[in-house]
Amino acid sequence: MRTKPGLLQTQAFRIVLVYVVLFAVSVTALLFFTYWNTRRTLDGQADRIIEAEITGLSEEYQHFALPGLVETVRARTPHAGQALYLLVDNLHHYVAGNLDSWPQITAVPGEMIEFDYERPINGRQEARRARGRVILVPGNYYLLVAQDVHDRYLTERMFTTTLPWTVLLILVLGAAGGGLMSRNMLRRLDTINRTSGEIIAGDLTRRVPLTGSGDEFDALAENLNRMLDRIERLMKGMREVTDSVAHDLRTPLNRLRNRLEEAAARLNASGAQKSEMLAGEIERAIAETDQLIATFNALLLIAETDAGTTRAAMSPLDLGELAADVAELYEPLAEEKQISLAVLPGPAAGVEGNRSLIAQALANLVDNAIKYTPAGGQVRIRTAVTEAGVDLSVADTGPGIPESDRPRVTERFVRLEASRNSPGTGLGLSLVAAVAHYHNAALVLEDNVSSGVPAGLKAVLHFPKTAMRAVPGAPLKSAAE
Ligand SMILES: Nc1ncnc2c1ncn2[C@@H]1O[C@H](COP(=O)(O)OP(=O)(O)OP(=O)(O)O)[C@@H](O)[C@H]1O
Ligand SMILES: [Mg+2]
Repeated sequence: MRTKPGLLQTQAFRIVLVYVVLFAVSVTALLFFTYWNTRRTLDGQADRIIEAEITGLSEEYQHFALPGLVETVRARTPHAGQALYLLVDNLHHYVAGNLDSWPQITAVPGEMIEFDYERPINGRQEARRARGRVILVPGNYYLLVAQDVHDRYLTERMFTTTLPWTVLLILVLGAAGGGLMSRNMLRRLDTINRTSGEIIAGDLTRRVPLTGSGDEFDALAENLNRMLDRIERLMKGMREVTDSVAHDLRTPLNRLRNRLEEAAARLNASGAQKSEMLAGEIERAIAETDQLIATFNALLLIAETDAGTTRAAMSPLDLGELAADVAELYEPLAEEKQISLAVLPGPAAGVEGNRSLIAQALANLVDNAIKYTPAGGQVRIRTAVTEAGVDLSVADTGPGIPESDRPRVTERFVRLEASRNSPGTGLGLSLVAAVAHYHNAALVLEDNVSSGVPAGLKAVLHFPKTAMRAVPGAPLKSAAE
């Protein structure tokens, strides 16, 4: 047996791992995209405000020159909100604005820059982040117009610090969850493997247990079990056939051997008597061989039908028509035994089935009915359509079969004590049962009750509703009929 691979080497865990990594990458990409988009929008907003401020301030400058600009900056400072202004001279000395000193920036005039500055909040100096633009004011002055973007900056910082942890968490949780999931999956596979091992070791009765969850593993287990049922049935059939051949064919083979021995012994007799006796023995030996061949054929047909290995073609057929054909075939035999044989009129009974197998089964039932019913009796074949499906029955007025014997008469080579004196091999009902099984039908043996009193045997083949078909080639009945 192969050794069990560790969890990490199993295909299930590898698949889970690939998915976890893919998931982590997708989440990271999605977060980055969201971050980048948000930042772009927020920056765009800030930039538009800054540009509008600059436009306003440059208009002031154009109209009122430097004093006008200083005045406006001073006027705006008290209610500046997020806006920041700082006007300095060429030595970066404060002239006007709500920033105390020129921040640490290497500004290229005209370009947006980000910088840190300090601002008193609740009485404490706090480092904050801003975004703005420096413009050159004629006369060697510099004007910084900016917006406080500290909130955006904090969000950004939070994002960059939490992202690696988020990804790590996804990976760890995913791997742990994947491990658990694949362990669960592997446990189920292991059960299937163990059961297969036990079956390989020889215990064909073992079955894979179901969890009842109805998932794929249960479906697999169910299919495996069904396959095992079929294999077991085939094996049982094979064993029964070989057992039957070994036990029940020994007697006729011995008989045949004795006949031939007797014939050999008669070789010593003389003249015409010799050839006459020899011819008789040979004829009897041939009859015995025919019987043996028939038995072999019956056994084979039963085994094949029972195991479902025959390739018997199924087609829609009319049971009533089939009954009439079989009855016609047995009419001479019934007449010879002074038994009245008839097919009772019944409804159109169409089923999907194999014609020759069903005909053989019905012939066996009719054969039994005629064989075991005393002279003067009746045999009736009938079809019926019920709620459950279609019935095909053969009823006789013979001795019937005691209820306790009914289960075993369908077994191979079983003949009841009462019929020891009539010819037969005990395979007839076995074939009927096998044909029934092949068609998902049931063979039921019951009392043939006539005017309340049991009067013989009634053998019924119950075909299920699913086997019902329209009778092929039946003339369409018109409403006028
Ligand atoms: N209609 C019947 N009435 C009474 N007994 C029956 C009837 N049909 C079957 N049996 C009993 O059931 C036994 C099994 O029947 P089955 O048809 O399998 O074998 P068989 O008739 O003895 O031999 P074969 O059919 O192989 O020639 C018979 O031997 C007989 O004892
Ligand atoms: Mg029979």
